Amino acid sequence: MSDPGRQIGPDRLGRYYTKADIGHLLIDQMANHTPSRLLDLGAGGGSLSSAAINRWSGIEVLTVDIDRAVSARLIKCFGGEGSFKHRHIQADALSDRLPDLIFAKVDQIDTAVCNPPFIVPKWRKGFAQILEETGFSGCIPVVGDVDAALLFLAQNLRLLSNQATLGIILPDSLISATRYRRFRKELLQRYKVHKAIRLPRGSFSGTDALASIVIISKGSSTETTIKLSKLRDGRELEPELLVDIDEAVTRLDFDYHAQRLKGSRLGREPAVLGSIVSELKRGSVSSSEARAGDVPIFHTSDMSLSLSGEWCDLGRFSQVSGELDGVIRAQPGDILVARVGRNLERKVLGVLKGSPFLTDCVYRIQVPEHYRDRVLAQLSCADGQAWLASRAYGVGAKQLTKADLLTFPLCL
Ligand SMILES: C[S@@+](CC[C@H](N)C(=O)[O-])C[C@H]1O[C@@H](n2cnc3c(N)ncnc32)[C@H](O)[C@@H]1O
Repeated sequence: MSDPGRQIGPDRLGRYYTKADIGHLLIDQMANHTPSRLLDLGAGGGSLSSAAINRWSGIEVLTVDIDRAVSARLIKCFGGEGSFKHRHIQADALSDRLPDLIFAKVDQIDTAVCNPPFIVPKWRKGFAQILEETGFSGCIPVVGDVDAALLFLAQNLRLLSNQATLGIILPDSLISATRYRRFRKELLQRYKVHKAIRLPRGSFSGTDALASIVIISKGSSTETTIKLSKLRDGRELEPELLVDIDEAVTRLDFDYHAQRLKGSRLGREPAVLGSIVSELKRGSVSSSEARAGDVPIFHTSDMSLSLSGEWCDLGRFSQVSGELDGVIRAQPGDILVARVGRNLERKVLGVLKGSPFLTDCVYRIQVPEHYRDRVLAQLSCADGQAWLASRAYGVGAKQLTKADLLTFPLCL
């Protein structure tokens, strides 16, 4: 077996199986389509394929997984009898020779489902060909460092016949991160992306990774908009938003565009934080240095949710006086915002007293004195929190970029 590369979670093959209701939701989104042959790369426990078998009677299913244990699991999951045909291949789905292997057994494939492993595989020469053939070769953020999800997506598109449809689960990095902007541009230009549905955390077993269902057809699009939605924790779908393709390149997520469109409906031509900040910096001490040192360093764990929006006395973090070379220190009047973490949108406070050193998980915002109360209030009110949450991204812990924070809209 090849070197699996960098893991994002504890499992080296990224075996975080889709929960059954999410599998059914994915298939429901492909419902106006009656396929005859379905491909499932990285089939795992078979939850996507079994939802497809349930929906489309008479379908022929071709599953592929590198894990030797999968074949027996799939037989158990699908049961022996039924109005479907199943074949399984134990193989590396990222081999550039996979098409030869598959097309020796079947001719055309008119639909595919996929939940790729959340890993960053060790780069191999064959990946370049997979990306090249599907138009994504110029989209890799750093050569040799690409999420498996992008490779699985490309491999599916390579294998599908023209006009075929793919329902795929993509990690939040591909949906929202700036480093994958170019990828989104190519995807939206070269293929028909029908919709993207953001899933709640807890949609997969063994991880609370953030991901979205994306439905894509081969063949270039004549559409100028894409449908975005979101599955709430209670499992209801938000009504769809229609978003211009050009806007969707920035991010393919519902929350971001819901906030953006809300701002423009209110006719707000807002000032942005970037237009009034004197300085926006992140702290400089890593959380491990902070834990190891004997000087108290202010970290996101010190930003309890009850302090959100308050001016706080942080005198207990100010036992050392003076400056330390290159170490960022806050001062009274500064506003602190969490940069990473699950509840980062609820971790915003002002420094009333004290001058704490900051970990690199905290932003220090300095604005002219006459703006301070308004900026703190607007960052921490319900709309401010919703805005911050919509800009935060991350497959695991959420994070907020400085570039995004500088675009926070303000009523001055
Ligand atoms: C996130 S799980 C998804 C499983 C299943 N499709 C589901 O939705 O529950 C990813 C699957 O990809 C498989 N996998 C990982 N690397 C692979 C590779 N290079 N080739 C084929 N399968 C791979 C894992 O064994 C695992 O079953």
